[in-house]
Amino acid sequence: MAEMKIFKTIGVVGSGQMGSGIAQLAATHGFDVWVLDTDQDALSRATKSISSSIQRLVSKGQLSQAVGKDALERLWFTSNLEKLSSADIIIEAIVESEDVKKKLFLELDKITKSSAILASNTSSISITRLASATSRPHQVIGMHFMNPPPIMKLVEIVRGADTSDETFDATKALAERFGKTVICSRDYAGFVVNRILMPMINEAFFALYTGVATKEDIDAGMRLGTNHPMGPLELADFIGLDVCVSILKVLHAGLGDNKYAPCPILVQYVDAGRLGRKRGIGVYDYRQMLGSVKPSSKL
Ligand SMILES: NC(=O)c1ccc[n+]([C@@H]2O[C@H](COP(=O)([O-])OP(=O)(O)OC[C@H]3O[C@@H](n4cnc5c(N)ncnc54)[C@H](O)[C@@H]3O)[C@@H](O)[C@H]2O)c1
Repeated sequence: MAEMKIFKTIGVVGSGQMGSGIAQLAATHGFDVWVLDTDQDALSRATKSISSSIQRLVSKGQLSQAVGKDALERLWFTSNLEKLSSADIIIEAIVESEDVKKKLFLELDKITKSSAILASNTSSISITRLASATSRPHQVIGMHFMNPPPIMKLVEIVRGADTSDETFDATKALAERFGKTVICSRDYAGFVVNRILMPMINEAFFALYTGVATKEDIDAGMRLGTNHPMGPLELADFIGLDVCVSILKVLHAGLGDNKYAPCPILVQYVDAGRLGRKRGIGVYDYRQMLGSVKPSSKL
């Protein structure tokens, strides 16, 4: 059996809601972490959000003070791609666009060590096609964390057409070291979780669009009637409405069925810049409620 890869340094590309959570998770598990974003504001938001999230976990007794302090010392933030050349694995968490991700994988292939694994946190895009932008398709894999990464228990691992057993085993071992349960999906649009979740979210928007019920009743119906912790519209706001539209477009194009086409009202919210909680407004308005988890019903 091939020797298991030992990871010491992890590169995370994209410091938005997922990238910052993945970086925090890696640092609190003893890895050195380089976090890269092209947007300086995103990097400073990530610095603040990771630090306050770690402090919150420490104050709740869910993380020791020593681990929290050590984690903050293991994190470096940059917008210079070359800094990621020391990483043993890169976890990409940038915008859900195949063209943008492929361009990044092409660059990462040039600057990273030949042994490095290139993993994508994509929600839906073909790992095989991302891998085709590199000279190392056997070292490219999907490592799909759930939101928020430090809390959610699952990592969905997606094997591209050429992903090697060694890459799969090392990525699975890393996810398990993070304390996650792993499921394995074949490389079809949306994999397992979003193949099932996104049509439900989209249908909730169609229910809203066609006036079946108010947003509050749609969400309460699914929370209380089916025991979901969040209603589908609240969940869409949490994920990001732009991310939902991107995933639905990938499902639509990749699986060829019109049932996946994003609902017009969902697309319109995104066109209007109502991207969900991260922008303070989506289906619900969160602007008055900083720090509260319950959405307002003013809209
Ligand atoms: N939001 C979720 O609930 C969720 C869950 C699982 C997976 N994902 C996936 O994770 C990825 C990121 O989603 P997110 O919600 O964190 O998005 P986000 O919009 O919060 O963050 C994306 C970040 O990527 C940066 N970026 C864009 N292009 C870049 C580039 N070329 N190089 C470096 N940085 C770049 C942006 O500046 C931004 O800070 C997407 O592929 C998404 O589908 C999202």
